[in-house]
Amino acid sequence: MAFSTFAVGGSALVLLVAGLVWQRTCKSPPPWHAELAVLGQPRAKKLPGTAVVCGGSIAGSVTARILADHFDRVILVDPEVDKIDESKTRILQYNAFHVFLCLFVAGARRLWPNFDAEIQAAGGRFGSTKAGLHYSGIPIIFPPSFPETMTLRRPGVQRVIQKLLMQHPTATNITVILGTVRGFGPSGDTSSIQSVLIRKTDGTQVSLSDVALVVDCTGPIQSGLKWLRSAGFALPENLRRSYSGNMRYTTINFTVTPELEAKLPIPGLSKDTIMIYSNVPHSTFGCFLLGFSKLEENTMQMLFNDSGEGESDMPRVASDVLAYLRRFPSHEPIPPWFFEVIALLCEKGDPVFYQAKSSTQSYVEYHRVPARDLPSNFIAIGDATLQLNPVHGQGFAKIMLNGIALDALLRSLNANSLPRDFSAQYFKKSAAYIGGLWDATRLQDYAYPTCHPMEGETHETGRFIRWFAAKLLAAATQDEEVATAMWKARHFLVADSALFAPTVLWKILWTSSRF
Ligand SMILES: Cc1cc2nc3c(=O)[nH]c(=O)nc-3n(C[C@H](O)[C@H](O)[C@H](O)COP(=O)(O)OP(=O)(O)OC[C@H]3O[C@@H](n4cnc5c(N)ncnc54)[C@H](O)[C@@H]3O)c2cc1C
Ligand SMILES: *[C@@H]1O[C@H](CO)[C@@H](O)[C@H](O)[C@H]1NC(C)=O
Ligand SMILES: *[C@@H]1O[C@H](CO)[C@@H](O)[C@H](O)[C@H]1NC(C)=O
Ligand SMILES: *[C@@H]1O[C@H](CO)[C@@H](O)[C@H](O)[C@H]1NC(C)=O
Repeated sequence: MAFSTFAVGGSALVLLVAGLVWQRTCKSPPPWHAELAVLGQPRAKKLPGTAVVCGGSIAGSVTARILADHFDRVILVDPEVDKIDESKTRILQYNAFHVFLCLFVAGARRLWPNFDAEIQAAGGRFGSTKAGLHYSGIPIIFPPSFPETMTLRRPGVQRVIQKLLMQHPTATNITVILGTVRGFGPSGDTSSIQSVLIRKTDGTQVSLSDVALVVDCTGPIQSGLKWLRSAGFALPENLRRSYSGNMRYTTINFTVTPELEAKLPIPGLSKDTIMIYSNVPHSTFGCFLLGFSKLEENTMQMLFNDSGEGESDMPRVASDVLAYLRRFPSHEPIPPWFFEVIALLCEKGDPVFYQAKSSTQSYVEYHRVPARDLPSNFIAIGDATLQLNPVHGQGFAKIMLNGIALDALLRSLNANSLPRDFSAQYFKKSAAYIGGLWDATRLQDYAYPTCHPMEGETHETGRFIRWFAAKLLAAATQDEEVATAMWKARHFLVADSALFAPTVLWKILWTSSRF
């Protein structure tokens, strides 16, 4: 008797301790947290040689800035980087509605101490996204205090970042070449890339030799893979995994003068948030999103998405917008003020429509390649490795995660040059940070019949994850602790494991859902 009481007491204690350890492990800061704290600090003794960055959009600019803290010289190659005030013809989503997650803002502030001032000077705003998001019409709780993010149209953000890059003291060691990278030259023993071939916009060719590091920042065309293969690096056939989500996006840009804005019946609370109203549909209703936000002064935008191959029924002209919104199925109706706001904007806000497609999502899984098959000095950042369904607005934050991984790895080097397995180390570290994004978005997309899963997977793949994600959203409409963990994980302020801390997990699993 005494013995069994002791045993029960003992195992309860073991369980309690295990529970506490579990809770603490799940809630411990994500690995990039400490690395972010040192981002942007110049290294005492620079690494010798030239780092070459292929592509000068967001990934290219962030990478060039980071590398200038580590290398003697950085060369950034892009055919359009000088046209700071013109639209980028090579970036299809240039005019699409963009949101920016907290990690991107936190990283940009480290890299450029005057980031906030420049974003504000360009008309951007900082604030929180409180109050805006609804799941099937029902508000998702927003944590009472939450770090800021920002809003500004994508072209504005791109201009600010390019300007900051060229204004920063490290710019003295960054050279911009207007041109396109055409290929790589291998070292004699194919252990590294020795040269980078460039065609300048004036038609001349140059070959940069003795390169210390080469970074692919070419975005969704992921050219690095092609250049490595042509240079004789034997990479597995199926290295680039892809599926066709057939995602389509419509952005409507409204011009909102202060007089017009004063007439919009937006309720007080929604007025000062970055996302005025957004609604994520319940999975049984299909796959579309509705987002509405005030960007810089005078500009509001609304975003829709769907998935499909034929004609889309997303609105293309102002007269279709209200009818489309009325068809939007939801457990709770979209509030009447929202219809009034959009009706006014469609009439008086000079609506301009943009369509963007994201047919294929892909991940070049360099982290699967053994170190001996990769050149020691090649890495890829941004869409050049992983191109996600953009619906969660993770593109810029993902670049920052890659950048933090690169910076941390370079800081950990003792030697004066990159080790033979530098590339492999980078891709492994980076995959640990971004691989979860690929799994979560891809498996979520498999819910749609118009999505074509990647080889070896079916629409059944990921059922459990989809079920869990739905439970999570439902619980986040009712419980603050769950909602806080969800928001923080979405903005990369905590690791995903925060959702599995016992106190959070049981609520996700047991909160009774009305859906
Ligand atoms: C519809 C849509 C909505 C999106 N919404 C969001 C959002 O809300 N939030 C978010 O964070 N992300 C969003 N994204 C994703 C985000 O736009 C991308 O992740 C981001 O642009 C990737 O940046 P990047 O620098 O890797 O590539 P890109 O911006 O595509 O830039 C690639 C650069 O490489 C250059 N280049 C190409 N080939 C060469 C070559 N051979 N030599 C030299 N230069 C070359 C190009 O000129 C270009 O400047 C969205 C994407 C889409 C499609
Ligand atoms: C530029 O590079 C030189 C040589 O490595 C270095 O001494 C100098 O500090 C660098 N300048 C900046 C602003 O980083
Ligand atoms: C969107 O509206 C703003 C405000 O009128 C305007 O400055 C901007 O050029 C518009 N953008 C596009 C891409 O039409
Ligand atoms: C549309 O957006 C919703 C809300 O975020 C999302 O759940 C869904 O996956 C998106 N659909 C497509 C086709 O991208």
